[in-house]
Amino acid sequence: MAVELDARAAGARRLAGKVCVVTGAGQGIGRAAARRLGQEGGKIVVADRVDESATRTVDELREHGVEALKVLADLSTFAGAQNLMSQARDAYGRIDVLVNNVGGTIWIKPYHLYSEEEVKRELERSLHPTLWCCLAALPIMMEQKAGSIVNVGSQSIRGLYRAPYATSKGGILALTKVLAMEYGRYGIRINTMSPGGTDIPDRVTPRQLIAPGIMADDGDGRRWAGAERPKSRPRPSRSSRPTTRASLRGR
Ligand SMILES: NC(=O)c1ccc[n+]([C@@H]2O[C@H](COP(=O)([O-])OP(=O)(O)OC[C@H]3O[C@@H](n4cnc5c(N)ncnc54)[C@H](O)[C@@H]3O)[C@@H](O)[C@H]2O)c1
Repeated sequence: MAVELDARAAGARRLAGKVCVVTGAGQGIGRAAARRLGQEGGKIVVADRVDESATRTVDELREHGVEALKVLADLSTFAGAQNLMSQARDAYGRIDVLVNNVGGTIWIKPYHLYSEEEVKRELERSLHPTLWCCLAALPIMMEQKAGSIVNVGSQSIRGLYRAPYATSKGGILALTKVLAMEYGRYGIRINTMSPGGTDIPDRVTPRQLIAPGIMADDGDGRRWAGAERPKSRPRPSRSSRPTTRASLRGR
């Protein structure tokens, strides 16, 4: 791993001994963030709801001498976020860094084709985990009078055909700005990092896994395995769906 270090940071171990919680660290940007924070000397709390991929991240970190703890939690609920922060504090006594990475668009289509249930699922995926994790972590950081929260946004705030996801990420920007002003006095920094389209070669859990055992389809939202199809949703006509998917992928 050391060879991958940015020359400016190599050996600096700027996070030596710091406790870093990374949500959605089982794959993708979350796993890359966990790896990088570990390279900088952090102790990493790998939070995800998928055991297999979270275990893989933890094993990889430990193989490289990074102290790591796995916490399985559904962060779309406040209870899940509280459980994560309690386990991190019980294990290490503090939380220095929180990366709120869970998120990702599920459906891609014009807004009028979303059902009520689908809109709720998008907010549950891309807005609620960050809201809940901030709410659960702030009291701990306030006690410490120190901490850093990085919320993962997206360039898709200006993107087409994923209005509920874009709304979630816009919400994250607003949340970050407000919290940064409210909690700066406690020595807590809060920032948003907004990536553009990013290839995720290690993705094993598809975005369309909307809950354990429940899979949405990747565009039309008409195949829900293990769950009732939402009834309120109008059937999309082929002509009203976006035709170019390639330019919309990722985000
Ligand atoms: N990949 C991109 O092109 C891109 C671009 C811009 C922004 N982003 C943002 O970056 C972040 C990561 O994107 P990615 O592509 O690496 O995501 P991903 O879908 O590959 O991975 C997300 C991880 O979060 C976990 N997760 C999902 N819901 C969860 C829940 N309720 N509780 C706990 N864990 C949960 C999944 O199991 C998975 O391991 C997201 O916030 C996404 O919106 C991604």
